Amino acid sequence: MAALRIGWSFSFIELHTIPLVPQISLKFLEVIRMLNKVDAMKKAAGDKAAEFVQDGMVLGLGTGSTVYWTLKRLGEWVNEGLDIKGIPTSTQTEDWAKEFNIPLTNFSEVQSLDLAIDGADEIDPDFNLIKGGGGALLREKLVAMQAKKVMIIADESKMVSQLGKFPLPVEVVPFGWETTSQRIATLGVTPILRKKEGQTFVSDNGNYILDCPFGSISNPADLHKELKLLSGVVETGLFLGMTDTVIIGGEEDVKIGNK
Ligand code: 5RP
Repeated sequence: MAALRIGWSFSFIELHTIPLVPQISLKFLEVIRMLNKVDAMKKAAGDKAAEFVQDGMVLGLGTGSTVYWTLKRLGEWVNEGLDIKGIPTSTQTEDWAKEFNIPLTNFSEVQSLDLAIDGADEIDPDFNLIKGGGGALLREKLVAMQAKKVMIIADESKMVSQLGKFPLPVEVVPFGWETTSQRIATLGVTPILRKKEGQTFVSDNGNYILDCPFGSISNPADLHKELKLLSGVVETGLFLGMTDTVIIGGEEDVKIGNK
């Protein structure tokens, strides 16, 4: 969220008024402008997704900076009387949902969701996905599997012709992760243990994430199966055949695609 908040803390007018004295200022402004552009696309997609939510729905609430905008918009409507409940896919989303007054539920109360709205790190032409950039892939998959419809929201940079440029997140149990990593390496990749602020990243489920830079994944279904058969692997970030709708925020407009 830090980047997001930085991105939105400057308006374009403000940017133009910052004196361009040292060389570094130009680079800084370019980065901020780029963040603004990407955030605007994410917001457009996130806002559009909220329009598909109807009174009485039970929702799967995904994770990430795009979903943030959907939660914010839904929160505004909840305050005006919209009656919904959501199952959050991460503690981050749970915190935001609480901040925005969105009522929460869980799988002991409800097992079938009307709609799951979530982000993605890569989307291929068949709407297969790589997810888990935020480390919430296991809960995101468990929630998506129980949803009647899965809606994926993203900025246009997430559309790819083939999955794999984004390192595939694989959630593994901490015990013996080094050997799990070696087993994954036999599939032709060098897994990287995810770190956050210099410490090993721990998922909401108490697991580790190995980011696997495959480069390109020609057969995602086979790779997913091979990974799932390896002892120590909990879940992969490949979401195959699960998406019903994608909402893509672009520079000019928002595109909606249905399966
Ligand atoms: C978290 C995810 C996110 O949905 C994915 O990383 C996209 O995030 P963002 O909307 O911030 O780009 O899979 O595990």
